[in-house]
Amino acid sequence: MIGISNVTAGQLAQLCTEATVKPMVVQNRCYAALGWDQEVREICRAHGIIYQGFSLLTANREVLADPEVRAIAKRVGTGPAQVIFRFAMQIGMLPLTGTTSAQHMKEDLQAEQLTLSTEDIQRIETVGV
Ligand SMILES: NC(=O)c1ccc[n+]([C@@H]2O[C@H](COP(=O)([O-])OP(=O)(O)OC[C@H]3O[C@@H](n4cnc5c(N)ncnc54)[C@H](OP(=O)(O)O)[C@@H]3O)[C@@H](O)[C@H]2O)c1
Repeated sequence: MIGISNVTAGQLAQLCTEATVKPMVVQNRCYAALGWDQEVREICRAHGIIYQGFSLLTANREVLADPEVRAIAKRVGTGPAQVIFRFAMQIGMLPLTGTTSAQHMKEDLQAEQLTLSTEDIQRIETVGV
């Protein structure tokens, strides 16, 4: 089981073409401005590779402050961080985070219980582009 990290779509495509053993997991910093790493995620999906996104909060502070994201959070009764984690799950990503706060950890784990609508997903997909 091979995990790789910080790869471009070109590197991953080449690896998937040439490697005898394909990676099982790709772990990338995930920027909303890059369509949430859409190209790399699509290659992962095509090859059955797990995509782990990290720095979803710290690399996307403008998304957390976005009025529409905040409105979605208010509507579903949570905070913008949880909305981003749930969005990540619903588009097929395994979100990674880290915290020193027990409260944040509890909130972040609760993201699994949320449901975002198709419209919410479409809005967040393009929020930073
Ligand atoms: N492969 C690589 O090169 C690489 C590089 C970097 C990271 N990673 C992995 O990815 C993991 C996550 O990366 P990251 O730390 O950049 O993730 P992140 O989710 O963008 O940032 C974590 C920060 O967000 C805060 N946070 C967490 N939950 C929150 C909440 N509900 N509300 C407000 N703030 C919240 C935490 O602060 P508080 O402590 O105040 O909650 C923490 O400082 C790392 O632990 C590491 O395993 C991998």
